[in-house]
Amino acid sequence: DDMRLYIREEIDSTNDEVRRLAEAGAADGAVVIANRQTSGRGRRGAAWVCPPGEALAFSVLARPAEPAGLWPRLALAAGLAVAEALELHGVTAGIKWPNDVWIDGRKICGVLVESGGHHVVIGIGVNVNVAEFPAELADSATSLWLETGEPVDRAGVFAEILRRLDVRRHQIGVDFPLLLDAVRSRCVLTGRRIRLMSADGLREGFCEGIGTGGELLLSVDGRLERILQADEVRVVE
Ligand code: BTN
Repeated sequence: DDMRLYIREEIDSTNDEVRRLAEAGAADGAVVIANRQTSGRGRRGAAWVCPPGEALAFSVLARPAEPAGLWPRLALAAGLAVAEALELHGVTAGIKWPNDVWIDGRKICGVLVESGGHHVVIGIGVNVNVAEFPAELADSATSLWLETGEPVDRAGVFAEILRRLDVRRHQIGVDFPLLLDAVRSRCVLTGRRIRLMSADGLREGFCEGIGTGGELLLSVDGRLERILQADEVRVVE
């Protein structure tokens, strides 16, 4: 069907632009990519800042046929699509539930999924050719360039992520086991002690993996808890 791609030099946030398109009736699959975001957003209201021309910042409009209760699975689909695209460059990409992509303990991609009544905006930021991070991020962030030692074709990475996402985002319903298998094998939290922050407070435990619905399995004092959402997840060492 007619997937529309909107390419912008500068925009406030690609997530906001896709939301506006959705509200104006745009069809499933519309994509907005921008070279520069003036108010790029991360989760928990944080700003998402990238040097223009180096990273990828884009958002995809989904109008899933599945009930809204399954939409959070799109975050897993997005992280997985990015991990698969990055792996073509020879790196080992892990998924940090629910929605970051990590290489060697450092974040290379963040996903921001926001939903309206009848649509979902899947926002993806990937550090492709970022050559240097500010000092406060140097230990926690990485880029494809830093990992492979050479600059990478951003358009190629973008196209590959879209291709993978087109498959993965349709696996939140009956095909979810296919998505889940691929996510589980890349889950960087499994087998680690982790600390979760969410609306109902702080929790610490041992991560037993990801459950059949995509939820995080946390063992706290011998009791298994199923975590549906968390604002922040940290590996404890
Ligand atoms: C996070 O890790 O906190 C999520 C970061 C998401 C950033 C992307 S960049 C494209 C899209 N537009 C935004 O304003 N945010 C997302």
